[in-house]
Amino acid sequence: MNTTICFGGFRSEYLCGADKSTGAVRIAQYESKQVKARELHSTNPKTGKMGHIISIVNQKGGCGKTTTAVNLSAWLASKGKKTLLIDLDPEGYATLGLGIKPNSVELSIYDVLINNISLERATIPAFVDNLDLIPSNPVLSGAQLEIANLLGRETILRVALNKLFLSKAYDFVILDCSPSLNLVTINALAASKFVIVPIQAHYYSLHGMKELFSTITIIKERINADLEILGILVTLFDPRTKMSHHVLSDIRDYFKDKVFGTVVNTNVKLCEASMNQKPICLYDPESKGSKDYEQLTDEVIARILSLNKEYVAEMAFKTYGGFYK
Ligand SMILES: Nc1ncnc2c1ncn2[C@@H]1O[C@H](COP(=O)(O)OP(=O)(O)OP(=O)(O)O)[C@@H](O)[C@H]1O
Ligand SMILES: [Mg+2]
Repeated sequence: MNTTICFGGFRSEYLCGADKSTGAVRIAQYESKQVKARELHSTNPKTGKMGHIISIVNQKGGCGKTTTAVNLSAWLASKGKKTLLIDLDPEGYATLGLGIKPNSVELSIYDVLINNISLERATIPAFVDNLDLIPSNPVLSGAQLEIANLLGRETILRVALNKLFLSKAYDFVILDCSPSLNLVTINALAASKFVIVPIQAHYYSLHGMKELFSTITIIKERINADLEILGILVTLFDPRTKMSHHVLSDIRDYFKDKVFGTVVNTNVKLCEASMNQKPICLYDPESKGSKDYEQLTDEVIARILSLNKEYVAEMAFKTYGGFYK
C-alpha cells in the first residue's frame, strides 16, 4: 500500500507495507493515531499548513545575507511556494532589493516589534507572484534600546508570527538579519526553526563563527529548543583563485555535511540585480548567479523534506518501537 502524508506544504511518499514480518514502518497506523509531525514552526489551524521559518544570519558584514534572503525568497516564490520575506536590517537592503523604497513605507518591522502592529498589517505584496514583504527602514536602528525595556523582548517576533499564521498560510518565512547579534537578531533566532549561515569564501570569514554558534546554542537552551542550522552556505566563491578553493575545503572539513552542496559563485549579475532592485530570477534568469540560487532553493527544500522524514521515522520508532528499520 502506498500512503501519502501531507505536512509542511510538502507531500511525502512512504511505502507502508502491510507485511509486519519485514518490520516495515507503520506510518499509516502512526498517521491514524494523529501523532503529528513536529511543528516546523507555526501552523495555520484552518489549512493545517506549516511555515518553515528560516533566519539568514552571520554577524560578519557583506557575506551575502541579503543577497541570499532576497534571491532564495524570490526563487521559492517562483517555484510556487507562498513566501514571506522579513527585512530585519535598518539599512533596508532587502526592502530595496524588491523595489520598495524603505523610507516610503507606511508600516515596517519596527511597528511590529515596538508598536504591537500585526505582521499582517505591515505586509506588502512584492512584484513577484507568491512573495510578500515586511519592509524595514532606518527607524529600526532605534529599536535596540526600546525593545530592551519590553516584556518578553526576545520573543516579540515569534508571538507576531504565531498570530500571523492564524490567518495566513506561508510555506516559507525568510528573515534577513543585520550584521549584529543584537536583540532584533535574537528575536529572529527565537522565532525560527532553521538558520542558514552564509560565509564568504575568504580567509577571515571564519572569525566570529564561535560567537555565532555559542549564541545559537544559548538560544536553543533557553528560548527555542527546536532551532537548528539548516546549512552553511559558501558565498562569493571565485573558482579562479586558490584562496576560494582553500577556504571552501577548510569549511567542508570543519562543518562536514552541514555545508550546502551548492556554492554561490561571485557573479556580477547579482550585484547588478540588487542595484536594479530586482531578484536575480527576474533580472537575469539565465545568469550563473540565478542558477546558483535556484540550486540552493532546491537544496533547501530537499533538506527540510529529509529532516521531516527523519523526524516522522524517529517519532514512529518511539511510538511503535521495534517496528521500523
Ligand atoms: N555572489 C555574489 N556575487 C557578486 N556580488 C555579490 C554576491 N553576493 C553578494 N554580492 C554583493 O556583495 C555586497 C554585500 O552583499 P550583501 O548585502 O548580500 O551582504 P550582507 O551580508 O547582507 O551585508 P550586511 O552584513 O551589510 O547586511 C552587495 O553589494 C552584493 O550585491
Ligand atoms: Mg544585509
